[in-house]
Amino acid sequence: MIKRMSLLSVLVLALAVMFMVSCEGPEGPAGAAGVAGADGADGADGADANVTCLGCHSEAKWTGIEAKYALSGHANPGALDYAGGRGSCTRCHSSEGFGDFVAGYDGEDIAYPSALSCESCHGNHTVLEGDISAPLATMDPVVLIVDPTMSIDLESSSNLCGTCHNSRRNGSYYEAIDSVWTEDVNGNDSLWIVPTGSVYISSSHAGPHYSSQLNTMKGIGGYGSTTETTHDNVGCVGCHMGASTDTEGGHTFAPNLANCTEACHGTVADIAVFAAEKHDAIKARMDAVAEALVTAGALTSDGAGHYTPAKNVVSQAVFEAFWNYRVMYQDHSYGVHNPGYYDEMLDEAEATLGL
Ligand code: HEC
Ligand code: HEC
Ligand code: HEC
Ligand code: HEC
Ligand code: HEC
Repeated sequence: MIKRMSLLSVLVLALAVMFMVSCEGPEGPAGAAGVAGADGADGADGADANVTCLGCHSEAKWTGIEAKYALSGHANPGALDYAGGRGSCTRCHSSEGFGDFVAGYDGEDIAYPSALSCESCHGNHTVLEGDISAPLATMDPVVLIVDPTMSIDLESSSNLCGTCHNSRRNGSYYEAIDSVWTEDVNGNDSLWIVPTGSVYISSSHAGPHYSSQLNTMKGIGGYGSTTETTHDNVGCVGCHMGASTDTEGGHTFAPNLANCTEACHGTVADIAVFAAEKHDAIKARMDAVAEALVTAGALTSDGAGHYTPAKNVVSQAVFEAFWNYRVMYQDHSYGVHNPGYYDEMLDEAEATLGL
C-alpha cells in the first residue's frame, strides 16, 4: 500500500518538476536539420498527343468513316441540283449554303452548290486540350423556322441535325390563305375568296417539308395534343449514328438497331421483331387515312401507294387530318420519332374521317 502510494507521489512530483523546468528554464539550442525524405514515385504519364489524335486521325479510322459516309443520303443528295442553289433552300441543301447560314447569312443563291462533306459538319478544333471531341459546325439550340421566337435545345451534337431537320411550315400557313387568284371561264384573272371554315390546299407539295423530324420528335407541328417522347433524350445522333456496322449507324446516318438495345429494348432480335410490327401497324393506319383523304378530295393517288396533295378547298377538319398525314409522311419514321404523337395524330385523323 505504501509502496504504491509513494510510487504515485514520485510520478506526480516528477511531472510537476518537469512542468516547472519547461516553463522557467532557458530555451535549448535548435536541433540539427532532419535528413531530406526520399523522392516521391513518378506521376502517371500525360496523354500521348499522337495516341489522342490518332483515336480519330488514323488512316484506318478516317477511311472507315469515309466509306460509311459515301453510302449516306448526305453524300448523295437527290435534291442538290433542284434545291442546292436556291436562296430559300440552300441553307439545308448545300455545303456552301449551310456554311453561310451558320456564319449568319441566309437566303443568298449559291452559284455552284455542292453536297455536304466532312468540312460542312465539322471544321477545325478550337482547343486541343483535355477530352478532345470532333469539332462541329454548330451545336447551338435550334431556332425553329416555323416560329423563330422558339428554340429547341437537345443539349448535344443532335442540335446540328435539327438545324436542317426542322419543319418549314405549320398548317397555319395554309389556314391563313383567305383568297386566291384564279382564271375564270373567259380566261381572265379573278379573285376567289376562300369560304370561312374552309382551307385551300394551295400546292401539290403542301406539308411541313421532308425536314419535319425535330418538330415531330418534340410533339409539335401536327393537330392534336403535344406528346413528348422518351426518344428525344436519345437525340438524332443516338439512333442514327452511335454503334456502327459497314452499312448502318455511324456516318451512314442510317439508324442501327444496336443503338436501341443498350438500355431499353433487349436484344437486337427482340427489337427487330417489335420495330417491324410497329412499322407495319402504323403504315396500315397511314394508308387507310390516305385513302379516306383521297375520297375527301385532299389527296390524289397514283394507284400504287403514293399520294400527292390535291390543290383543293376542304373543310378545316379535313385539312387537319390531311396535315397530320403529311407531317407523318414527311417525317418518314413510321412512328419511331415519337410513337405517342403518331398515335395522337392518327386518332385525330381517323375520328374526322370516320375510320
Ligand atoms: C474525337 C475525334 C478527334 C480527335 C481526338 C482529334 N481530332 Fe482533329 N479533327 C477531328 C475531326 C472530325 C475534324 C474535322 C475534319 C474535317 O473537317 O474534314 C478534325 C480536324 C482537325 C484539323 C483540321 C484539319 C482540316 O483539314 O481542317 C487538325 C489540324 C486537327 N484536327 C488536329 C488534331 C490534333 C493535333 C489532335 C490531337 C491533339 C486531334 N486533331 C484530335 C476529329 C478529332
Ligand atoms: C446541312 C443540313 C443538314 C444537316 C446538318 C444534317 N442533315 Fe440530314 N439531310 C439533309 C438533307 C438536305 C437531306 C436530304 C438529301 C437529299 O436527298 O437531297 C438529309 C437526309 C438525311 C437522312 C436520310 C438519308 C438517306 O440516307 O436517305 C437522314 C437519316 C439524315 N439526314 C439524318 C441526319 C442526322 C442524324 C444528322 C445529324 C448528325 C443530319 N442529318 C444532319 C440535311 C442535313
Ligand atoms: C430547313 C432545311 C430545309 C430547307 C430550307 C429546305 N429543305 Fe428540302 N429537305 C430537307 C431535308 C432535311 C430533306 C430530307 C429528309 C429525308 O431524306 O427524309 C429534304 C428533302 C427535300 C426533297 C426530297 C429529296 C429526295 O431525295 O427525296 C426535295 C425535292 C427538297 N427537299 C426540295 C427543297 C426545295 C426546293 C427547297 C426550297 C424551296 C427546300 N427543299 C428547302 C431540308 C430542307
Ligand atoms: C451531317 C453531318 C456530318 C458529316 C457530313 C460528317 N460528320 Fe463526322 N460527326 C458528325 C457528328 C454529329 C459527330 C458526333 C457524333 C457523336 O456525338 O457521337 C461526328 C463525329 C465524327 C468523328 C469522331 C467520332 C467517331 O465517329 O469516332 C470523326 C472522326 C468524324 N466525325 C469524321 C468525319 C469525316 C472524316 C467525315 C467525312 C467523310 C464526317 N465526319 C462527316 C457529323 C457529321
Ligand atoms: C429512337 C431512335 C430515333 C431517333 C431519336 C431519331 N430517329 Fe430518325 N429514324 C429512326 C428510324 C428507326 C427511322 C426509320 C423508320 C422506318 O423506316 O421504319 C428513322 C427515320 C428518319 C428519317 C427518314 C429517313 C428516310 O429514309 O427517309 C430521317 C430524315 C430521320 N430519321 C432523321 C432524324 C433526325 C434529324 C432526328 C433528330 C431530330 C431523328 N431522326 C431522331 C430512328 C430515330
